[in-house]
Amino acid sequence: MLIHSSTSGFIHTSPSEITPEPVYRARRDLMRAMTGLAGAAALAGWTDRVAFAQSAAPAGARRLSGLVRSNVPGALSMDKPTDVKDATSYNNFYEFGTDKADPARNAGALKTHPWTVEVDGLVAKPGRFAVEDLLKFSALEERIYRLRCVEGWSMVIPWVGYSLSQLIGRVQPLGSAKYVEFVTLADPVTMPGVRSRVLDWPYVEGLRLDEALHPLTLLAFGMYGAVLPNQNGAPLRLVVPWKYGFKSSKSLVRIRFTDKQPQTAWNKAAALEYGFYSNVNPNVDHPRWSQATERRIGEDGLFAKKRKTLMFNGYEAQVGQLYAGMDLQKFF
Ligand code: MTE
Repeated sequence: MLIHSSTSGFIHTSPSEITPEPVYRARRDLMRAMTGLAGAAALAGWTDRVAFAQSAAPAGARRLSGLVRSNVPGALSMDKPTDVKDATSYNNFYEFGTDKADPARNAGALKTHPWTVEVDGLVAKPGRFAVEDLLKFSALEERIYRLRCVEGWSMVIPWVGYSLSQLIGRVQPLGSAKYVEFVTLADPVTMPGVRSRVLDWPYVEGLRLDEALHPLTLLAFGMYGAVLPNQNGAPLRLVVPWKYGFKSSKSLVRIRFTDKQPQTAWNKAAALEYGFYSNVNPNVDHPRWSQATERRIGEDGLFAKKRKTLMFNGYEAQVGQLYAGMDLQKFF
């Protein structure tokens, strides 16, 4: 790489000289893993060095070295992470079919490189960014989040990514931007589910701008210390830990800033069942079932107790203020 020096004109540097070493290593490994380039360093087991991380990684995945442990309040759940096999074989990704096993079975066809994300709408600096560009916006962190699905089950997943606010800062939303819309890939060739009418494709989700800017809202590129498996939303997805799992859109292709509340895929499909906010709330039942308890995947033996679902999925201290004064029965 060439950089300009005031004394000697242009000089050669290695990227590691201008980016802190761990940040550089995690990013380099992720790029190598995504582009399929081999590299011994990409296999370095960073998980051995961090006490809380588990040694598992999706089968065949390259581990990322040099990840940073997040210091965002609430970002490191102490709950035991879900077994990687469960997290990568029991999925919702309707583009690949509605059965929990369909995404792992069918998502191998997804072509995740090259991949670009259009960031546009009410922003001063719109752009179309390759994943390689997005990876330069911030250091990759590990976050251990609880994920509560609207269907009544939950998991605990160590994600790899950075706060979405880092990307939002780059594109500079205008004062008129109030919401962010997330659009995901809808490719009938590689995604068999898109050929059926189960949802009005593409899968669209949305957040209020202040929710999108909250430090816990994660743009994820990996999980379990490795690159995201296709069935979990490669090459990049959203993770919003205090909302039901369906708000965490997979395989993002567009992020659009708007002044109107986005029309989301699930709200269009069943407005009375899936509201725009979809904050985890044990006091507001789904019209067809209670949301007061949940089954933690991996704890489902015959005598396993159900867990009590926590307000905002246990992230109330961090996000409660976003909803101060709102009627959460009405804005479900
Ligand atoms: N994103 C897209 N594009 N398509 C989907 O069907 N399902 C959602 C969400 N993101 C979905 C999606 C639902 S319902 C859940 S619970 C989570 O992804 C599941 O994420 P996981 O399979 O990685 O646990």
